Amino acid sequence: MQFLSIEDDNAVRIAAEALSAGLLVAFPTETVYGLGADVFNPKALAAVFAAKGRPRFDPLIVHIADPAALERIARLSLLERASRERAAALMARFWPGPLTLILPRGGEVPDLATSGLPTVAVRFPAHPGAQRLIRLSTGAIAAPSANPFGRLSPTRAEHVREGLGDRVDIILDGGPAEVGVESTVLDLCTDPPRILRPGGISRERIEEIAGSLAAESCGAGSLLSVPAASPGMLKSHYAPRTLLSVHSREEMLALDYRPGEGILFFDGTSRDAWFATQKMPVPPPVPPAVSSVRGMPLSPGAAPQAKPETIPVYRVFSEGGDLSEAAAKLFELLHDFDGLGLSRIRAELAPDTGLGAAINDRLRRAQGV
Ligand code: TXA
Ligand code: MG
Repeated sequence: MQFLSIEDDNAVRIAAEALSAGLLVAFPTETVYGLGADVFNPKALAAVFAAKGRPRFDPLIVHIADPAALERIARLSLLERASRERAAALMARFWPGPLTLILPRGGEVPDLATSGLPTVAVRFPAHPGAQRLIRLSTGAIAAPSANPFGRLSPTRAEHVREGLGDRVDIILDGGPAEVGVESTVLDLCTDPPRILRPGGISRERIEEIAGSLAAESCGAGSLLSVPAASPGMLKSHYAPRTLLSVHSREEMLALDYRPGEGILFFDGTSRDAWFATQKMPVPPPVPPAVSSVRGMPLSPGAAPQAKPETIPVYRVFSEGGDLSEAAAKLFELLHDFDGLGLSRIRAELAPDTGLGAAINDRLRRAQGV
């Protein structure tokens, strides 16, 4: 496996050639890192499913970096007029960006990419390096998140290296992902459209452009008569290894600290209120006495702590309660906490509006059953 920088034009060229030759390239997007393969190459697609240990009934998102590429991937003409107009308006407003659209599938897309569905998921990522890579390759790259199936999504190249290692041919490093949660998946083959996965573009923002969406995020009535309309909606899908439970702010404030547990507060006021109930001064947010996470150094500033058992291990998603900042830190903090050998992670839910819906969706899934 080669570990290269996406800032390096030569590296991007090498990676694009690798994709065109059927190899697997992990690359940054604005949401999370993707595990890319040429969508027109079924062998390469099979390698993606194998590398992730992902069941083949869970279809992939096709990434494009040029609106013209859409013609090869999807057949917008099969949509009703209202849906077609919505699609055009949403693309104009949110592409490039963290919105994936479910559209009628184009004839060139292999069955493996869509798991045999009559629809295809398409997204135009905003990351300039990702766009360069896609344009230099075949122009359409299938890319699930670059994590082993069912595990936390990667928001750093190091997460990809740790999770997939030599199962990837090239990892392009672009630093931490800006958005931090995956794209919103919106099914435009239903009327009204339906959110299959909350993500980087909130329901409220989509409704401003496309009108009311189906009230339920996922359920019956989709054009797709498959058991789960979006298989990524499987209950436990973003699981850390450590037991995790989610709590409202009220529940959080009623909890007593138990040594060995780690606490993730949504904002600074929750943290301060909780420490006040424990009658403790707020300590600096240091982890317990471990200096590495499975051989990887902890993030800078995370120095080992002498007496972990007496000082609660905690982090704050966003000091000021900013949902974008909390989303950007979500998987990062879960990855970090997961490496600390904690007995349990307790996480506070975000307010349920805007990006908070995506944050809470991922936290609830991390909780599993
Ligand atoms: O932000 C993202 O979307 C990231 C980056 C890498 O672009 N990608 C990502 O891919 O999250 P993945 O494979 O982890 O999630 C794709 C989701 C899954 O829930 C899958 O079931 C759904 O999209 N999906 C793909 N094709 C679909 C289709 N034709 N119909 C319904 N759902 C589909
Ligand atoms: Mg995923």
